[in-house]
Amino acid sequence: MTEDSMRFGFGENWSRFVAAHLNEERIAEAQRHLLRFLGLADLRGRRFLDIGCGSGLHSLAALRAGAERVVSFDYDPNSVATTERVRALAGAPDHWTVTQGSVLDGAFMEALEPADIVYSWGVLHHTGDMWQAIELASRPLAADGVFYIALYCRDVYLDPPPEYWIALKQRYNRSGTIGRRLMEWSYAWRSTVWPELRSGRNPLVTIRRYSGDRGMAFWTDVRDWLGGYPMEFAGLAETQAFCHDRLGLELVNLYAGEGNAEYLFRRRGAANYWDEVRTHQTRIELPRPFRHRQGLAWEAPLPAFRDQADDLGHPRRSRLMLFEGDKPVGFAHQTHADIERRGGGRYSHWSDQLIFSTTDGTDPNANGRRYFVGPDGLP
Ligand SMILES: C[S@@+](CC[C@H](N)C(=O)[O-])C[C@H]1O[C@@H](n2cnc3c(N)ncnc32)[C@H](O)[C@@H]1O
Repeated sequence: MTEDSMRFGFGENWSRFVAAHLNEERIAEAQRHLLRFLGLADLRGRRFLDIGCGSGLHSLAALRAGAERVVSFDYDPNSVATTERVRALAGAPDHWTVTQGSVLDGAFMEALEPADIVYSWGVLHHTGDMWQAIELASRPLAADGVFYIALYCRDVYLDPPPEYWIALKQRYNRSGTIGRRLMEWSYAWRSTVWPELRSGRNPLVTIRRYSGDRGMAFWTDVRDWLGGYPMEFAGLAETQAFCHDRLGLELVNLYAGEGNAEYLFRRRGAANYWDEVRTHQTRIELPRPFRHRQGLAWEAPLPAFRDQADDLGHPRRSRLMLFEGDKPVGFAHQTHADIERRGGGRYSHWSDQLIFSTTDGTDPNANGRRYFVGPDGLP
């Protein structure tokens, strides 16, 4: 079987998703997620480019958020047809265009109008040439725009490693219908059903309520995850270095710790709305010296934020962002064992302290950098 014939039919999966699951609740969830990470209350006056639009749900969310112009494209004709269907459901507005195209097609990318928000969520690692795709995706970015991308995060897929998942996806795409169903059930059992049963929860309720935080559906995501091939993984540090050194972009927001890490960049030296977001991100410098915990983990006391911290009853409550110098670190809610063992900027705002690691494993008391925390400042 050739590489090309192992390519997953994303569009077919999206078509099923829209037919069975698209509803107001999911659209609202997608819109909430989009605006929150962008740090915006709405998209009025902004041009939105959705690269690899899939179902069209996020383009619709941008439209609902008031975008002045929405351009959506996808490589897969079924994704294009599905997004067209969603556009039709939205009343076929003139300021929303849907086309077929590939982010790897330089001429196509050059011909696109500049966009204030270039959005490509979970796409560029599925093109077969991720770094080239990132570079081409950034081309239509307006001078004062933002570049919002989500990529499979190498720092999260450690055990089992990326090679395991790549082999699994190849097997899934080589399998017939029955083989695929068995793999979907086996994955659902291991990833969700068994862990939920063990924690005393009803897995059927979890599956029914699943929205993946972006308005997604459980079985759509299972198929997308098992089938999604070709695929590559990007490390947090290498992505930031590539975008900084090769594309002249600075990181302004980061959300890591899930399968996809979300990055928000803008052009280095550019002024845009993020300057305003920053003014709301009151930062407090962590007091030194930091106490060494174990391995790569360090501790700083944060008694004033105790009631907003994670604890056993609220494992993802904290909205505190760690900054290393000016850079958001964004690798929050990590287990203390992982912070100690793996470092890499993982942190946990736990009870009355911050347990953290530096992004490069250096000693924060001696590496010459300053560390800050602040509410993530987003609406
Ligand atoms: C995992 S889906 C993500 C869809 C959507 N962005 C979302 O967040 O729900 C990946 C999408 O990328 C599209 N894609 C893959 N290669 C592409 C390429 N070279 N150019 C444009 N889209 C591509 C696929 O067809 C698929 O619809």
